[in-house]
Amino acid sequence: MGEKLRNRIYLSPPFQSGREQEVLNEVLKSNWLTSAGRHLSQFESELATLFNFPHVVAVQSGTAALHLILSHLGVTYGDKVVVSDLTFAGSVNPIRYVGAIPVFIDSEIETWNMCPLLLEKYFSENLDDLPKAVVLVHLFGVPAKIKKIKSICKKYGVILIEDCAEALGTSVDGQYLGTFGDFGFLSFNGNKLITTSGGGAILVKEKEVADRFLYLATQAKSDVPYYHHEEVGFNYRMSNLLAGLGLAQLQGISKRILKKQEIYQRYKEILSEYGFHFIPFSSENCYWLSTALIDDLDPLEITTRLDQSYNIEARPVWKPMHLQPVFEKFPSVLNGNSKEIFSKGICLPSGVGLLASDQLHVCEVIKKIISHE
Ligand SMILES: Cc1ncc(COP(=O)(O)O)c(C=O)c1O
Repeated sequence: MGEKLRNRIYLSPPFQSGREQEVLNEVLKSNWLTSAGRHLSQFESELATLFNFPHVVAVQSGTAALHLILSHLGVTYGDKVVVSDLTFAGSVNPIRYVGAIPVFIDSEIETWNMCPLLLEKYFSENLDDLPKAVVLVHLFGVPAKIKKIKSICKKYGVILIEDCAEALGTSVDGQYLGTFGDFGFLSFNGNKLITTSGGGAILVKEKEVADRFLYLATQAKSDVPYYHHEEVGFNYRMSNLLAGLGLAQLQGISKRILKKQEIYQRYKEILSEYGFHFIPFSSENCYWLSTALIDDLDPLEITTRLDQSYNIEARPVWKPMHLQPVFEKFPSVLNGNSKEIFSKGICLPSGVGLLASDQLHVCEVIKKIISHE
């Protein structure tokens, strides 16, 4: 097929289960187009069942979820919050919303996630100025060293928040990420494993804390018949309509994960002998995106050629936060790994709906680019 005739192959487009229209019609008929309704509570309870966790509060985005968690914890102006350096800005922006100072911790090479050694070093050297929380990102669906980091946080008495925006469906020893820390949050943004077009959720252990998130997310209205406010609130609650979409998307979630794993393994099988380095496969990882480090070639050169000559969307790995103009003035504890991963890393098309024939085409094209054909 001529290159121009092919449809664009996207990085991670939304994928519909086939039940979306039916459920959305059901919500429309019910006229519960609000931030309350049966579909919203059902979406939350299905997520809680999936995670085998007591409470889930659905909100408008992963960013809103983290903003609510930090606000609930009373993190404020001048406090420090430790966060993974190699991440998307959504893990950091809410730290600035509350006026706190992000401290970026570099990656370990094995998982690309926060290096536990650097974290412990930072804590031990700052005993008089420990952070209010750690935001630990499980990037691209690969688990950070959660058990080690949990024990470090426990030792120093620091709250652990797991950013599972990219890691819905990944587990460690049979336990889902997001349930290890003091709090976990998810994103249902359009490119995620399941989407509500925009959305997020907080995983919460105690009922009183879940109620507090509900209160903060709905403008902090006191429980009286008239509008009475004693705290600043947020308008962050997920709508019942979007929760309906979430319910339809949740159907067959394990098949989605299997598909992502299959995509990862196929890339690994084909591209490993062409200088692509993949982390070892684990059946517990959701592989939200298939990523690899490449020898010799600049990932930006490959992604630009894929885009401009072949209508294929791929991306360099996320640019570390300490290199972002907006965050570079904040403290960081570095070992050079996140910069190295950024300079060599590539994210390959990984949509749940990616056809095997399209994936083989992506691989063929990459081989051509690499051999300068
Ligand atoms: C690692 C990470 N954290 C946080 C977010 C923010 O989530 P949302 O887009 O739902 O606000 C995202 C992405 O979307 C992300 O990839």
